[in-house]
Amino acid sequence: MTNGPLGLRGPAYGFRHDPFAGEADTALAFWPDALVVMRDGIVTAFGDHAAERPRQPDDLPVHRYPDGIIGPGFVDAHVHYPQMEMTGAFGETLLDWLRRYTFPAEARFADPAHAARIARIFLRELLRAGTTTAAVYCTVHEHSADALFAEAARLGMRLAAGKVLMDRHAPEGLLDGADHGIPATQRLIDRWHGRGRLLYAITPRFAPACTDEALRAAGRLWCDNPGTLVQTHLCETEAEIAWVRELFPGAPSYLDVYARAGLAGPGAVMGHAVHVTEADIAALRRSGCGVAHCPSSNLFLGSGLFRLHDMAGEGVRVGLGSDVGAGTGLSPLRTLGDAYKVARLGGARLHPAQAFWLATRGGAEAMRLEDRIGTLVPGMEADLVVLDPAATPALALRTGAAADPADRLFALAALGDERAVRATYVAGRLVHDRDAAGETGR
Ligand code: GUN
Ligand code: ZN
Repeated sequence: MTNGPLGLRGPAYGFRHDPFAGEADTALAFWPDALVVMRDGIVTAFGDHAAERPRQPDDLPVHRYPDGIIGPGFVDAHVHYPQMEMTGAFGETLLDWLRRYTFPAEARFADPAHAARIARIFLRELLRAGTTTAAVYCTVHEHSADALFAEAARLGMRLAAGKVLMDRHAPEGLLDGADHGIPATQRLIDRWHGRGRLLYAITPRFAPACTDEALRAAGRLWCDNPGTLVQTHLCETEAEIAWVRELFPGAPSYLDVYARAGLAGPGAVMGHAVHVTEADIAALRRSGCGVAHCPSSNLFLGSGLFRLHDMAGEGVRVGLGSDVGAGTGLSPLRTLGDAYKVARLGGARLHPAQAFWLATRGGAEAMRLEDRIGTLVPGMEADLVVLDPAATPALALRTGAAADPADRLFALAALGDERAVRATYVAGRLVHDRDAAGETGR
């Protein structure tokens, strides 16, 4: 993607090291007045403005954000775009929620025009929330993935997505046929994987909705298509785990159902992993699977409390997932507020360095994209977000009284939402400008 050089000037933050592996207090770095230079979709320079500006051409266009905080774009490691319309559905736990609300909403995606409309809205909303990369579940319909990929390609986003695979325990219109949805998935991989910045994620919904045959076929497909991702759900609720035990009586664990099918390994992103054993945590780390922590969803459905520090602290690659529509919004800032509360209920604390790591680099690591996105470093893809610590009067009061830059970031995680996203850049282009009238970018 060719686009001319562009500079962003303003305060910025970054990471010195992994705040889950080392000391969290020393993990954040701050630049009070930074310059980021982007060209052809890549960050080409980043550092103190005073040092960097003389190295750049005099006529470099620069967008100034003196009151903002520039950082890497957010990564949403687990989200369902077809569920936007039924977000916040009342009163059920996972399995009943799926039957009562989710499947009917997903059935409406039989209409390609509906899929195209929701895909457009979804991606605009992601950018408005500061999210520049996501791992997205579509519906069982092949065209639901086409619609999303087409729109993401137009925006130049680095996005992973996949058609959901289900061949049992869902309404008739949402089931793959005897071919387990494999040929449709292969067609989608051929059409979209590696096109521009797009990645295909092979997406068996979860073990209860897939026969063992279907899971194994998906595992073979992953093996045959190197570089694609896998995404699925793991150990979200106790009732779900009991059902998996019934359906797969020979399997030693839920994770093992996926592992035996060839669906656990680097590039597989397991959503939730709330009710896991020590053996599961060790197996997740050893196998190199990513995990998407979805605190908003876990609180909304009452699924349980994710053991973030036991996972990330033990070397599991953990990112943050909105899990819309069980999660109640796309804002990673708001989801981080929920992650903090989940950590507190588990007797722990989520340090601001850990929070922002989860929402950026952690997600990139879970998706095996840490060499391209997730940090603001020369050579990385130029996906950035500019946060506004004074977005609302309440936020301005709190951040104005912040003890230091880390506390200002913490306030954004505890109190912020889409309103605190001043601007979003994808591949070096401004794609969301909160203060501009109408849509920006394209
Ligand atoms: N498990 C299987 N499907 C889903 C889904 O759509 N959302 C959530 N939260 N869990 C699931
Ligand atoms: Zn989910």
